[in-house]
Amino acid sequence: MSETTQKRMVLGVTGSIAAYKAAEVASALSKAGILVDVVMTEEAVRFITPLTFTALTHRPVVTGLWEEEQPSRPTHIELADAADLILVAPATANVLAKMAHGLADDALTAILLATQAPVLVAPAMNGKMWSHPATQANAALLQSRGVEMIGPEAGLLACGYEGLGRLWPVAEIVQRCLRILGSGVIGVAGSEVMGG
Ligand SMILES: Cc1cc2nc3c(=O)[nH]c(=O)nc-3n(C[C@H](O)[C@H](O)[C@H](O)COP(=O)(O)O)c2cc1C
Repeated sequence: MSETTQKRMVLGVTGSIAAYKAAEVASALSKAGILVDVVMTEEAVRFITPLTFTALTHRPVVTGLWEEEQPSRPTHIELADAADLILVAPATANVLAKMAHGLADDALTAILLATQAPVLVAPAMNGKMWSHPATQANAALLQSRGVEMIGPEAGLLACGYEGLGRLWPVAEIVQRCLRILGSGVIGVAGSEVMGG
């Protein structure tokens, strides 16, 4: 696929226990022909290594604001401009709050503030964190500004509680991205989208 027609995405990965599922998202989108630039928060790196995403996307992974090769053309602004879509999956309560209030103290939130691309957010957190009025207000504010939310879904959470807070199924997140990018839809079953 030529560089000029290839769709580009930023996949933002944050410090949720569901961060490992972002590897499947990155893999499926890359296999669908999307150029995926993964941007991780410092806390995301505690859950999954950048190496995993580099191997899956064949792209460098951004983990900080201060790794710029060319400070005159900062990577975060370049990625914000080049992306056809920004997906944050999983999105923590913390990153939703930062997005809602326009904070930009790391590469991911700086990109989110600088971009004009559509933004899709897949929250994942403990059910009480999700239902907290602060998180609900932040999510509503983001939606009122055009940010699209996918999930969370109800189920057994990693913290041991049942509740609303699980990351939306990976295959459906991938399909939503492909629809937004106009790249068609590939296999509904996880196996076809997610093959290793
Ligand atoms: C084991 C563990 C699991 C966590 N899982 C989540 C989670 O699923 N969702 C969430 O919002 N925060 C979760 N947190 C808290 C976040 O990691 C914390 O708020 C962090 O500051 C988020 O940083 P970030 O939004 O910059 O990635 C978890 C923390 C720990 C220690």
